[in-house]
Amino acid sequence: MFDTQNLRQRLAEALPPEINAFLRIAAAEAAKRKWRLYLVGGTVRDLLLERSGFDIDLSVEGDAIELARAIAASPGDITVHHRFNTARVTWGNHHIDLARSREETYARPGALPTVRPGSIENDLFRRDFTINAMAMSLDQDDWGRLIDLNGGADDLRNGVIRILQPRSFIDDATRIWRAVRYEQRLDFCIEPTTLKLLGLNRDMLRTITADRLRYEVECILAESQPEKVFSRADELGILATWHPSLRGDRWISDACARARTMVEKPTSETYLALLGWRLTADEKEDLITALRLTKLQGRALRDSTKITENIANLASATAKPSGIYAILHGICEDTLVAAEAALDSPFASQNIDLFMTQWRRVTPELTGEDLGRMGVSRGPDIKTLLEELKNLYLDRMISSRRQEESFVSDWLKNRSHGLG
Ligand code: CTP
Repeated sequence: MFDTQNLRQRLAEALPPEINAFLRIAAAEAAKRKWRLYLVGGTVRDLLLERSGFDIDLSVEGDAIELARAIAASPGDITVHHRFNTARVTWGNHHIDLARSREETYARPGALPTVRPGSIENDLFRRDFTINAMAMSLDQDDWGRLIDLNGGADDLRNGVIRILQPRSFIDDATRIWRAVRYEQRLDFCIEPTTLKLLGLNRDMLRTITADRLRYEVECILAESQPEKVFSRADELGILATWHPSLRGDRWISDACARARTMVEKPTSETYLALLGWRLTADEKEDLITALRLTKLQGRALRDSTKITENIANLASATAKPSGIYAILHGICEDTLVAAEAALDSPFASQNIDLFMTQWRRVTPELTGEDLGRMGVSRGPDIKTLLEELKNLYLDRMISSRRQEESFVSDWLKNRSHGLG
């Protein structure tokens, strides 16, 4: 496992050269002002774990906004939040977050914290878990030294998720979800006292606003295997806080795994559609409201109802392409992927695949204008005829413009004889 003595080298190797250059500039600017600067939180955790692709979070014992302004190439590269004294700097393709090190208190459970400047020690102590409460010094003569006041490195070695203070889940119940997410992402274990407090404070989830809750849901759906979080959350009795009918069972695990065989990285909406797949339309509406889901997320869930109402047709080997088109047309891509994974039927898969790769692109050659020129009166007839022509193409009843024209001529003749 990792060697905490050798972090200077780890830093140099793990970070892209442009980030290392940024850190050198940031450290020099902080030193000029006699402020101590640190890498903190998930950045340190992931550096130690040798995980790649992490965000860079910096904590400074000084004014983070001033420091960001001193580093950034232009003012347009900085976004600031005065309330928390934080700044985000765009640096090439990267975003780097800077925050003034701080102490936090909570006026009431679930409220956003009240912050006041503090030392790095305070800043680490306010954090959620020991593995997220380490810092790495960026002082020039102390570069890469690990600051680990709460046993984070040991917990990282032993695969343990541990809160720092008994009130942690009461002050900020989003940490209940974070604990499960890290545990499942890293294949760790929530240590027994933390687990006990998590269980005792489950009701504190009610103190979290729907928007903060949705953010946690989004973080879970962005995990590489969100089904592990669903399953553990079900076991801990917290999945039901999103909706009592949700299940983190074998079905959802298999369906999520199947989705990954269909596309490299299923979207959050695909996973959400799978999670809500077995809910009734009304239950989906309740879930949408409870989590204040976005339009896109809500659509992924609602679209799944159109599929579940037509399973027999979709999974039929003899269904007409035009019939499949009628069901799947207008359903979002995220839900189509979810449908293949959820239905787990070779015929449904074939039908959905054909729809996605071929059928949905089928259009007649004749346009509305052409039909007008042929004598079809403007209005609903044009739309109906174009639909009809498309269905004929889909069902391979016609295959050329000439056949389209002859179909329309026959239709007009029948019409004039009162048969159309
Ligand atoms: N943090 C916390 N309590 C929270 C949210 C965040 O203590 N409710 C602290 C943790 O120290 C965390 C840091 O803020 O490491 C940054 O938060 P975030 O970006 O959400 O987490 P990361 O650790 O960067 O993890 P991820 O890999 O999931 O982005």
